[in-house]
Amino acid sequence: MEPREEEDLFERFKEFLGVNPALLGTLTSITLIIVCWTIKDSLRIKDIREKHVFITGCDSGFGNLLAQRLHKRGFTVIAACLTEKGSQELKACTSPSLRTVLLNVTNPKSIDNAVQYVAEETSNKGLYGLVNNAGRATPIGPTDWLDMEDFHRVLDVNLIGLIEVTLKFLPLLKKARGRVVNVASVMGRLAFGGGGYCLSKSGVESFSDSLRRDMQYFGVKVSIIEPGFFKTGVTSLDIIEKDLNRLWSRLPPDVKGSYGEKYFENYLKVQRLSMNTFCDTDISKVTNCMEHALTARYPRTRYGAGWDAKFFWLPLSYAPAAVADVMLKIILPRPLAGKRVLSKNQVDV
Ligand SMILES: NC(=O)c1ccc[n+]([C@@H]2O[C@H](COP(=O)([O-])OP(=O)(O)OC[C@H]3O[C@@H](n4cnc5c(N)ncnc54)[C@H](OP(=O)(O)O)[C@@H]3O)[C@@H](O)[C@H]2O)c1
Ligand SMILES: *[C@@H]1O[C@H](CO)[C@@H](O)[C@H](O)[C@H]1NC(C)=O
Repeated sequence: MEPREEEDLFERFKEFLGVNPALLGTLTSITLIIVCWTIKDSLRIKDIREKHVFITGCDSGFGNLLAQRLHKRGFTVIAACLTEKGSQELKACTSPSLRTVLLNVTNPKSIDNAVQYVAEETSNKGLYGLVNNAGRATPIGPTDWLDMEDFHRVLDVNLIGLIEVTLKFLPLLKKARGRVVNVASVMGRLAFGGGGYCLSKSGVESFSDSLRRDMQYFGVKVSIIEPGFFKTGVTSLDIIEKDLNRLWSRLPPDVKGSYGEKYFENYLKVQRLSMNTFCDTDISKVTNCMEHALTARYPRTRYGAGWDAKFFWLPLSYAPAAVADVMLKIILPRPLAGKRVLSKNQVDV
């Protein structure tokens, strides 16, 4: 650059400062905040090797990958699996220092056994990390296809089971001034699709908020993971469609009629299309958030995991209900009665 040009530039910069002190102040503050936040967010804990982490639902999906990743990083992992098969498979691809234990979160006795095992494994030093990951999505479908039993099947695992596991591990967590990482979902922030799933995840959000506020005095930190859609067991179309078939085929004729025979076919078609569009195969996006929540000096309160969560579902959850309703109406299938053939349909029924 010529000296003359340099002078020009300097003059213009001085002018800019003079004209826009407020803008300059704002920009500097924002930059400073971002820099400080980034530094704070990147600080890590020490002594991983002495820390025990207990993860539920390690047979497959996020829990399974997290167990392997934390084990590689040097944590002492106790991976809880629902089935013996899941436990054997996880053991087969890790080393013997990764412990597994059988846990069905809907069974109080099973939870007690797991707590007992962890208390012995940690020689009463306390538990550093509890990751409440176990969950199920089915039965899920239009609300009037479901009965109370269907609601219970999901709520008992995703919410009541999670609460019971947390309560029973809290004494060990307080002892180690540990951390709880609860897996919720974008569907806990924006409810669509009837059944216990959205309710359970919204319950996980609020249980975690209360827990975080109550436990802060004891040094126990609580984080919530809000994944978007990922390709795993809970989004398996085979499982969801098989259960939808069960729900549809048991419907009384009048309810079926109100939806129209074509509805079921359409529902499956739209669901397949949206699941195939939305489901991300890179589940490490979720386990990275869980790892941050366990290893960061200052874990975040909420982690939106996946592009769809960050840029679509979570922003939509803040939008006015009318906007979210229209967006969801575009995406989801609708019954005959909702297709302006109301009068014709009513005659049919
Ligand atoms: N995938 C997604 O798009 C997504 C999005 C948001 C949130 N989530 C949440 O992420 C968590 C992990 O799910 P994932 O996606 O990794 O699916 P996944 O592969 O099905 O993992 C869920 C695990 O929980 C286990 N489980 C089911 N019922 C249980 C019970 N009663 N007691 C103990 N364990 C039980 C399952 O065992 P079996 O396999 O033997 O049934 C499975 O290993 C769940 O809480 C889910 O709701 C997933
Ligand atoms: C989990 O426990 C519940 C309640 O005891 C039981 O109904 C269910 O079959 C169990 N699930 C598995 C896979 O063992």
